[in-house]
Amino acid sequence: MHPLQCVLQAQRWGPLASVSWLLFRTCRAQSSVHGTTCPGPGRQQENGVQKDFSSRLAAGPTFQHFLRSALDPQEKPDVEDPPPYLTVDELSGRQRKVYLETYGCQMNVNDTEIAWSVLQKSGYLRTRNLQEADVILLVTCSIREKAEQTIWNRLYQLKALKTKRLRSRVPLRIGILGCMAERLKEEILNREKMVDILAGPDAYRDLPRLLAVAESGQQAANVLLSLDETYADVMPVQTSPSATSAFVSIMRGCDNMCSYCIVPFTRGRERSRPVASILEEVRKLSEQGLKEVTLLGQNVNSFRDSSEVQFNNAVSTNLSRGFSTNYKPKQGGLRFAHLLDHVSRVDPEMRIRFTSPHPKDFPDEVLQLIHERDNICKQIHLPAQSGSSRVLEAMRRGYSREAYVELVHHIRESIPGVSLSSDFIAGFCGETEEDHLQTVSLLREVQYNMGFLFAYSMRQKTRAYHRLKDDVPEEVKLRRLEELITVFREEATKANMASVGCTQLVLVEGHSKRSATDLCGRNDGNLKVIFPNVEMEDVSNSGVRVRAQPGDYVLVKITSTSSQTLKGHVLCRTTLKDSSAYC
Ligand code: 5AD
Ligand code: SF4
Repeated sequence: MHPLQCVLQAQRWGPLASVSWLLFRTCRAQSSVHGTTCPGPGRQQENGVQKDFSSRLAAGPTFQHFLRSALDPQEKPDVEDPPPYLTVDELSGRQRKVYLETYGCQMNVNDTEIAWSVLQKSGYLRTRNLQEADVILLVTCSIREKAEQTIWNRLYQLKALKTKRLRSRVPLRIGILGCMAERLKEEILNREKMVDILAGPDAYRDLPRLLAVAESGQQAANVLLSLDETYADVMPVQTSPSATSAFVSIMRGCDNMCSYCIVPFTRGRERSRPVASILEEVRKLSEQGLKEVTLLGQNVNSFRDSSEVQFNNAVSTNLSRGFSTNYKPKQGGLRFAHLLDHVSRVDPEMRIRFTSPHPKDFPDEVLQLIHERDNICKQIHLPAQSGSSRVLEAMRRGYSREAYVELVHHIRESIPGVSLSSDFIAGFCGETEEDHLQTVSLLREVQYNMGFLFAYSMRQKTRAYHRLKDDVPEEVKLRRLEELITVFREEATKANMASVGCTQLVLVEGHSKRSATDLCGRNDGNLKVIFPNVEMEDVSNSGVRVRAQPGDYVLVKITSTSSQTLKGHVLCRTTLKDSSAYC
């Protein structure tokens, strides 16, 4: 079934349809294993368990089970009753050790913590040592073919681990989570028989059940996309207690349907997490002493909390000037400016960033807020993708080069000193040399501080796959990509040179990886700043000399720059509030 089809079904018929489809998937995975493949090592010995399990599965869920699954996620109890075909004991992790490996974007890093939070509650332990793992879960990415190839290669390595496993240990279970599970579905189960479970990005709550089914030697999958899953009540576990910053997921999915992009198919429809639950998480992080929060989502600034009826007024959405959407205009809900306003008030000493936004959703109230609030970083990611209006139209981005450039000027006027970054794709369908030169000229014109540049990789299911031709030869794509990287570096070096002689506020992260005598941190624009680890004055305690620790704010005078890093010497330890007077 096409994922959008299943989204539509869920929309029309609600959770009843969703749950039955989910169970159907498990049964199908089961029948393929029983019908056509030999049980692997360790599976035969489980036949007794399997028989018992199968007879319970045949009895199927009760009506009560469907009713309970229809509950609002907020109302769901922490520990759910087991499905009728599993006992509480079978559902629990029984201290099995889980090894999680993350690929792809920051959203996947956050998803890994959500998956872990679910498993931890269920009685699993986490290990960082692959050799001692009982369960290996790969959180995967599908955005480009190369990302998927990396996962296939990793699966071949893990296969060896599984076959070499001592019979005295519990059988090793391997799972594919996230975008690749969603995109390839049973193709993964069929191609790699040693994969035991598949969980799409909206199915992490189901991991304990999927692993319990896998315990009996069967493959299990849940790749159902949801219209409302935001994991609002699943607080991700902070993995590094010494960390200075954390990511907070505020929305999931994407409705934009850019013609090259697989994301709307793997992560489903756009939905926002309720403001109250985001604020609760940010407060907790502030209490833990974290100094920076990055609001995360595929389209963070399209945020729209419509969870309460009173939020849903008829006010239509202000888009950036000259921008349009591929979808019907939406109305009402609490928007990104509201969220940013409240998040930035939680702790004035906590830096706020957000990624990744879409250029269409930068109304003046958002820009004004970024300008006004000391703790909202003056850094905007503004993915352009191409500098050619013709290519932008083929990409269905909803803007022309001219509208994009006008937005850049407007942002720079509204937020003086703002740092800009962007994403670009080289060699999209039909891109001519002239189009490519337009992208080069946009890089020169805007002079970004940071950039993420990619060669186009055609993805099945996307509009480009169905309607356009991937006609730029691979070597031309790579040559154009190289050219874009060179130009980007030249311009970023020039842009960063402007900071030489300036004093910047830096949030200290720890020791520099390259030198034991240096510390490393990030400036407001999110660029890495390196400076010697020496004693300095503490502005809050005059006369006291201190050494900077991770999580401290320090003022650094910039002395040299490259395209990606700044270097300088430290002046003093300060606070975010006090520092606004210096910069
Ligand atoms: N090929 C190459 N790059 C892509 N991106 C998204 N889809 C593709 C694709 N099919 C890039 C875009 C996006 C970033 C996250 O990845 O630049 O902004
Ligand atoms: Fe993909 Fe476009 Fe959505 Fe970004 S905005 S995730 S590029 S479809």
